[in-house]
Amino acid sequence: MGIQGKDLLSIHDLSVAEVSEILDVAETLKAKQQRGEEHHWLKGKTLGMIFQKSSTRTRVSFEVGMWQLGGLALFLSDRDLQIGRGEPIKDTARVLSRYMDGIMIRTFSHDEVKELARYATIPIINGLTDLLHPCQALTDIFTVKEHKGELKGLKMAFIGDGNNMSHALMQACAKVGMHITVASPSAYAPDTAIVDEARADAAVFGSRVEVVTDPFAAAKDADVLYTDVWASMGQEAEQQKRERDFSGFQINRELLQTAKKDAIVLHCLPAHRGEEITEEVMEGPQSAVFDEAENRLHVQKAIMALLMAKNKNQ
Ligand code: CP
Ligand code: NVA
Repeated sequence: MGIQGKDLLSIHDLSVAEVSEILDVAETLKAKQQRGEEHHWLKGKTLGMIFQKSSTRTRVSFEVGMWQLGGLALFLSDRDLQIGRGEPIKDTARVLSRYMDGIMIRTFSHDEVKELARYATIPIINGLTDLLHPCQALTDIFTVKEHKGELKGLKMAFIGDGNNMSHALMQACAKVGMHITVASPSAYAPDTAIVDEARADAAVFGSRVEVVTDPFAAAKDADVLYTDVWASMGQEAEQQKRERDFSGFQINRELLQTAKKDAIVLHCLPAHRGEEITEEVMEGPQSAVFDEAENRLHVQKAIMALLMAKNKNQ
């Protein structure tokens, strides 16, 4: 078994052993990178990167990561691809499969990514949909492990919107035996199907997946405080309403004091200081957000190296 030749659309689809393999390979690749050792594990391979939404970290870390692995990454904006003019995803999937060894896609609809994966004969990597952001959540778990040593039994508190990030983090925590409590205003709670799936996965380790409306209840005794923007990409028109609805769902000094003394603070970035996080906490000693951003590179290199070692029918 293993994830060679498979897709990475959702962390829920990965086994506990596969999650742990990604974390181990990421550690190896990070060490090699830091020692300056060549690691051209994907020499001669190509990755297509389809973007229907903006990106700083995802684009740059995948592109640089592929270069460091000895391969080539192609940036494919939907403004230039024929997808933008109505060419079906299923055709794009089959055409790109004839040229390349893997595709990373960032888009709105999760179903579109599933459709791409269904028709492609090469591995598809979800680089964020409205539903999930698996590469980020795997990176976050890796970052927690670096800072805390052990994952099982730790508690993460996610404060804010029950969005793609909260979903992926529930899935990731469940696979590694971490407890997670999501605190959102009731109208912005996470998707119940995702919560149920994460709870089923968490049962393996006996960890808890909780959804509450009180940020302080969530933050109590947390080892990791996590937040994300109140208005995600595609929700720009709701920005003002969301600023009102999310007031109080902010990681600030008071909330941080509710967590464990040695808690770390994570944010997938980009951050809106003064909204979901204060400048003081973001720049403070407990913030690990730039280690987290760096680790996108190492974890995604592990994901590419593992998935793209084969294609689906090998
Ligand atoms: N965290 C993250 O995915 O950042 P980008 O939107 O810049 O890729
Ligand atoms: N929830 C955010 C994450 C950005 C990395 C968004 O979807 O815009």
